[in-house]
Amino acid sequence: MRNFISDRVAATPPSGIRKFFDIAATMKDVISLGIGEPDFVTPQPILQAGIDSLQRGETAYTSNSGTAELRTALSQHLNKLYKVQYDPADEIIVTVGVSEALYLVMTAVLNPGDEVIIPEPSFVSYAPEVSFAGGVPVAVPTYVKDNFQVTAETIEAAITPKTKAILLGYPNNPTGAVMTREVMLEVTAVAEQHDLLIISDEIYDRLVYGIEHVCVPALPGMRERTVLLGGFSKDYAMTGWRIGYA
Ligand SMILES: Cc1ncc(COP(=O)(O)O)c(C=O)c1O
Repeated sequence: MRNFISDRVAATPPSGIRKFFDIAATMKDVISLGIGEPDFVTPQPILQAGIDSLQRGETAYTSNSGTAELRTALSQHLNKLYKVQYDPADEIIVTVGVSEALYLVMTAVLNPGDEVIIPEPSFVSYAPEVSFAGGVPVAVPTYVKDNFQVTAETIEAAITPKTKAILLGYPNNPTGAVMTREVMLEVTAVAEQHDLLIISDEIYDRLVYGIEHVCVPALPGMRERTVLLGGFSKDYAMTGWRIGYA
């Protein structure tokens, strides 16, 4: 029988995260930087709302974009936290986690050969999502000396005529880095100068401690060139519920 696996999948290395997770589990006094999973269960009011909803029989298809109630609530939430305005009617889509949102945005914006700059280390899915959509992931390094923030100079050095987007993931998995407003403004200025899209995965936005999270589309001029990705997995310990949005 021939091998039915596509070249695309065959060329993708398996995730190192699971391997590290298993190794860390056998060791004492080791902080696992493996799976991004909060160490508390979904809060009781959310559990109860889920149970009530199921018992009311709300188990059918919704609009492809997600329920109007959830999109409206997300719009209000983002406006309240970050003063960024999205029309719930046609600017927000509810997804099966940020995982699906990443797949959708890459499929929606990449043509074959388009390059996407990805600061590393990063969430394990970023590069494969770009490749699966026909794009080319371009890894750029981040350093301890910069608190693992990506710098404008590093991004600028990786830009070619084929660069289409920068994929930012801050607060960062796995480094925990949070971008300061100052450094983020320098990075977004590069995006503007080179007319690049920013895909901003802000799934850890509320897991910051004593420092500010900078929401990229809330920065001057950034709303129109940013796709904001967010989700419920981390902030609300809902990893198994699979709810996110773009
Ligand atoms: C940075 C980052 N983005 C996205 C995801 C996927 O999140 P979701 O559960 O919403 O699919 C993870 C999960 O670990 C993550 O760490």
